[in-house]
Amino acid sequence: MRILITGGAGYIGSHAVRCFLEHGHEVVVLDNLSHGHAAAVPASVLVRGDLAEEDLVFSLLRQHRIEAVVHFAAYCYVGESVREPEKYYDNNLVNSLRLLRAMRRAGVSRIVLSSTCATYGIPAQLPITEDQPQRPINPYGRAKLAVEWMLDDFAQAYGFSYAALRYFNAAGASPKGDIGEDHDPETHLIPLVLQAALGLKPFVEIFGTDYPTPDGTCIRDYIHVDDLAEAHRLAVERLQPGVGLKLNLGSETGHSVREVIRVCEQVTGRSIPVREGPRRPGDPPILVASSAKAREVLGWSPRYRDLHSIVETAWRWHSTHRLGYADRPTTKGVI
Ligand code: UFG
Repeated sequence: MRILITGGAGYIGSHAVRCFLEHGHEVVVLDNLSHGHAAAVPASVLVRGDLAEEDLVFSLLRQHRIEAVVHFAAYCYVGESVREPEKYYDNNLVNSLRLLRAMRRAGVSRIVLSSTCATYGIPAQLPITEDQPQRPINPYGRAKLAVEWMLDDFAQAYGFSYAALRYFNAAGASPKGDIGEDHDPETHLIPLVLQAALGLKPFVEIFGTDYPTPDGTCIRDYIHVDDLAEAHRLAVERLQPGVGLKLNLGSETGHSVREVIRVCEQVTGRSIPVREGPRRPGDPPILVASSAKAREVLGWSPRYRDLHSIVETAWRWHSTHRLGYADRPTTKGVI
């Protein structure tokens, strides 16, 4: 298929681009490179541009005879979304509407959305199944939920087919070690722990040690980025007119912050300095997915079954790219 991947130069997007290309799909990446990295995707597929430019999106859809869109482009910092909601509603919601409008004009009606477990808020039950109430507790989650609703309405009214993939905690890197996680600023646990292992940070701060969990720290469900990428490929291939899929993507196993640090120490063979700090506002104590529906509907199952193997791939990336993509800067070939 011919696929437009918005935000394809970002962390999850770049792994998905590779996955689609490896499976013989034709890919066009649209990324404004505000957070993405040109070096994360082949120069030949990258178009530098913004989703706000609806006419640009429309002409890309037309010119490349695009059959489906995979929509990653979005801001992803929960804390920032609380401080700057306008920024999040504008980019994550309004620009998604612009994308859907351009798709309608161009006659493209298949889309896979990068959604999030943040749409659930504090879960009513664990593990989290797709039918649980969605009560997001921050603008990031609310804007993503609103996009899911728009997709529902576009499916009903215009026959769009969509899959909203609700990720839990994306982690790891390509086993080849050449693409990986590089956020600025970095706020995610595993990269921060590995940066501390490399001596790039003096210590890791544990945000809260008084949660109602066995060791007092938050529990999350870490899922390998290549497993997420694979789910997007399977979802695109299964889209049906007028039908919407909402699927959780997680490993179905929870790990506490302390466990993550311990696994990172095992993988790196280094001792990692830790400081215990207060809770970070907005962090639910435990988030663990049920991905039974994704397994059933997509025939998907994560290839990375344990945190150790996920962290090994992250370590390969971080230890060879201490400064992320800045270790081999390139903006060559941007169209
Ligand atoms: N944590 C620390 N210290 C740090 C960083 C994180 O203790 O320096 C803790 C957090 O408090 C949390 C866990 O590590 O308990 C994981 O935190 P991350 O920031 O890595 O990930 P989040 O669970 O906050 O965020 C992820 C996605 C978001 C998504 C959110 C939904 O990255 O995009 O899940 O809850 F919105």
